[in-house]
Amino acid sequence: MNMHEIAQGIHWVGAVDWDVRDFHGYSTLEGTSYNAFLIIDEKITLVDTVKHTHQHDMMHRIRRLIDPAKIDYIVVNHAEFDHSGSLAAAMEIIKPEKLICSAMGKKSLMDHFHHTDWPYEVVKTGDEISLGERTLSFIETRMLHWPDSMFTFCKEDGILFTSDAFGQHLATSERFDDQVDLGRVMTQAAKYYANILYLYSPLVKKLLAQIQQMDLDIKMVAPDHGVIWRSHIDKIIASYESWSSHESEQRALVIYETMWRSTEAMAKAVASGIESCGVPVDLINLKVNHHSDIMTRVLTARALVLGSSTLNNGLLPYMAGFLSYMRGLKPQNKIGAAFGSYGWSGESVKMLNEAMSEMKLDIIDEGIRVKFVPTHDDLAGCVELGKRIGAAVLADNPTTS
Ligand code: FEO
Repeated sequence: MNMHEIAQGIHWVGAVDWDVRDFHGYSTLEGTSYNAFLIIDEKITLVDTVKHTHQHDMMHRIRRLIDPAKIDYIVVNHAEFDHSGSLAAAMEIIKPEKLICSAMGKKSLMDHFHHTDWPYEVVKTGDEISLGERTLSFIETRMLHWPDSMFTFCKEDGILFTSDAFGQHLATSERFDDQVDLGRVMTQAAKYYANILYLYSPLVKKLLAQIQQMDLDIKMVAPDHGVIWRSHIDKIIASYESWSSHESEQRALVIYETMWRSTEAMAKAVASGIESCGVPVDLINLKVNHHSDIMTRVLTARALVLGSSTLNNGLLPYMAGFLSYMRGLKPQNKIGAAFGSYGWSGESVKMLNEAMSEMKLDIIDEGIRVKFVPTHDDLAGCVELGKRIGAAVLADNPTTS
């Protein structure tokens, strides 16, 4: 068995994208992979395809195993272009008997490719298709990550093909979770959850319960990005349980943008107050941290303390952009507070509080505004604000929703 044969007769035929550093606004500093799988059975089946930039990689891997024209079925678990970008080219070469997808998948594929004549075979949760020795069953997973998404389960081998779910943007030559440093894999899995699936947490919880109820004999969880889970399935499932329940750690983030460094001085004073309570705190300057990396930390932090100077009666632009991004991802079960400097109008703290209220954060303090440059007393006030936040973090028994 070669390193790309993940089980007897089931081959990884995807592509590793070592170079991608921006994935629709998500920073992918470790690259990614687009995983596709070829099942050699009486009915030869390709599960998912790859981004259009890597279609030759996939076809080359397939050709090393079989003539692509021998493929009978293509399964599309998800129509987003990172998994379907090479589908049109693959359809031309393969001309499969069946293109298997969910009902929403068919709609999505038609909206993307405009081929009404493809041999769509629509499946729903519980449907099964025999490949000969093996059986594929399907589970619709709407909104994880798109309305069309589904899982495909290869029953005899116990492999659950999960598309985006349980994925990580991680480029590696290794294919399994036990071949790569687990901390590295979990960091990327958390980042993936925080930026792609966080807002769908209620659906993730339902899906996890559904999978448990189905009592599937899962030996591998094979997402379409990153490594395949075979040794740490319990760990990634437990992490998804925790993240989707909005469990948090006793940790605070001070996230700020500064103009002439007054708000930065306030941020440092607030952080020192939090730290003095024994609560770990990260000081995050929005100008030097990518919003997708900040979201990874937001995922598990208990307190978010936001700081912005006032500019043109509003927030500074990095903070405004970050709030827009974070609002869409719907963090919950967090404490919030705000601070910022101003010159004459000073709306920023009020606006930060309004944004956090809208996100249903528990605002524990009215916050602090300082005119132009903070005095020693102003900074002492910021330290006290930090202490109140630290005390609230310690007093609070993080709950799950
Ligand atoms: Fe990896 Fe939603 O696509």
